[in-house]
Amino acid sequence: MIPAPNHRGHNLTRSDHPTPLEARASGPLTGKARVPGDKSISHRAALLAAVAQGTTEIEGYLEAEDCLGTLAAVRALGATAERRGEGAFRITGVGRHGLKEPSNVIDCGNSGTTARLLLGVLAGQPFWSVLTGDESLRRRPMGRVAEPLRGMGATIVGRDGGKRLPLCVGGTRPLKAIAYRSPVASAQVKTALLLAGLWADGPVTVEEPALSRDHTERMLEGFGARLEIEPRRVTITPGGELRGQPVAVPGDISSAAFFLVAATIVSEGRVTIANVGVNPTRAGLLDVLGAMGAQLTVVPAGGSQAAEPAADLTITSAALHGGEVGGELVPRLIDEVPVLAVAACAADGVTRIRDAAELRVKESDRIHAIATELGRMGADIVELPDGLEIRGGQRLRGATVHSAGDHRIAMALVVAGLVADGSTVVDDTDCIATSFPGFVQALNGLAGQPCAVTSP
Ligand code: S3P
Repeated sequence: MIPAPNHRGHNLTRSDHPTPLEARASGPLTGKARVPGDKSISHRAALLAAVAQGTTEIEGYLEAEDCLGTLAAVRALGATAERRGEGAFRITGVGRHGLKEPSNVIDCGNSGTTARLLLGVLAGQPFWSVLTGDESLRRRPMGRVAEPLRGMGATIVGRDGGKRLPLCVGGTRPLKAIAYRSPVASAQVKTALLLAGLWADGPVTVEEPALSRDHTERMLEGFGARLEIEPRRVTITPGGELRGQPVAVPGDISSAAFFLVAATIVSEGRVTIANVGVNPTRAGLLDVLGAMGAQLTVVPAGGSQAAEPAADLTITSAALHGGEVGGELVPRLIDEVPVLAVAACAADGVTRIRDAAELRVKESDRIHAIATELGRMGADIVELPDGLEIRGGQRLRGATVHSAGDHRIAMALVVAGLVADGSTVVDDTDCIATSFPGFVQALNGLAGQPCAVTSP
C-alpha cells in the first residue's frame, strides 16, 4: 500500500502555523496546467463506496486535507480504503448494514461537506457517533441538516441547541420517510437527506429553491440507487444495496477558477487546463467570465466519463467588463465568488453580485473577507448584505492581506497580487492545503521565471 500524504491534526488552529506567501506582478501566464480532483465528487465517492457492496476503484481522488478527512472517517466506520497510487484508492464497502460504531470522535477538520454528509449517513446507523471540526467548522451552521434529520427520527444533540459541532448522533433505523423543502439551495443539505434516505422506511424527497450541484444524484444513480429527478426536486426510494463502481474524478473547476481568472487578467497569457469537470451545476463561472468578455474555449475531454462531463479549458488574456450575477446562477458558482471579485476589480465598470448570502457561512464570511482584503489593495468594493458591488478598472496596489484561514480567500488574494503594483503578502496560507496542495507550484509553472509567488 502506498502511504497517503498526511491528514494533519485538525485541532491545531491555523494561526499556529501562519505561513505567508508573497505575490508580485507577473509576466504572461502560459502553458498547460492540471488541477487536482474535484473536492465535492471525491467526498461523495468515498462515502458511497463505503456503504456500497463490493469494491470501488477511484481515480483522481483529491488528496487534500478535506477529502483525506472523509477517507479517515470512512475507515473509522469500518470501510477499507487502500491507496494504490496518486489519487487512486480502492475502497471496499461494508454494505448498507455493515458500518460500525467509531471508537473515537470523528474530526471533520475544516470540511463542511464531510460534516454534513456524514450527519446524513450516521443518522441511519444503529449506534452513537460524535463529530467535531476545527475552529471555523465549529462556527458553521449544522441545524440546516440536523433539523430535518431529527424529523426523520435521528437524535442529534450538541452545542448551541444541537446546531453546531461538536454534535453527538444517535442513529435510528429505519429512519422515517420525509418530503423536505429546504430553505437554502444547498447540495450539502440535499445530499445529507438523500444519504439518510438509504436507511429510511419510505421515499425521501428534497426540494430546493434553486438547483444546487447534482453530483450526488449522478453518483447515486451510478451506484444503482432508485432516484426520481424533477426540476429542483429529487426523490430517493430506499431498498436494495448500492454496488461499488469505478469512479473517475475530473479536475476541480473551483481550483481551475484561480488559473482561469489569473490567465485572463494578467496580460498576454494563454493557458490550457486539462480535464476539468464542467457539470453545468458547477460551471457558472465559465458563463459569467464569457459574458464579461473572457476568451475561453471548452473542448470536451477525450474519454470523459458519462456521469460527470469534463473538458480541456483554454483561456487567453482579455479586457473584461463588469457584469451582474444573481438568482439561479449563484449556486452554480458559489465557491468561485472570491476569485470572481478579483476579476471584477480588473474589469471596466461595475460588477454586482447578489443573492449570495450563503457566502457569509462558508469557511469564513467570504463577503466580508474579500471586500476587506481587496479594499486594502485599493479596490473599490462594497459589501452588500448578500453580495458585493465592485467598481473595477483601477490598478490594485500591493499590501499585506489576511486569508481569514480560508483556502479560497488565500488563493484569490494571491491571484490579485499578480496584477497589483509592488508586493502583496498574503498571510496564513497553510489553509490552501484543504483543497489545492500544489497551487503555488502550478501557478509558478505558468508564470515561468521569475516566480510570481514565493515565501517572503
Ligand atoms: C458543496 C456544496 C456547496 C459548496 C461546498 C461544497 C458540496 O455548499 O459551497 O464547497 O460538496 O456539496 P452548500 O451545499 O452548503 O451550498
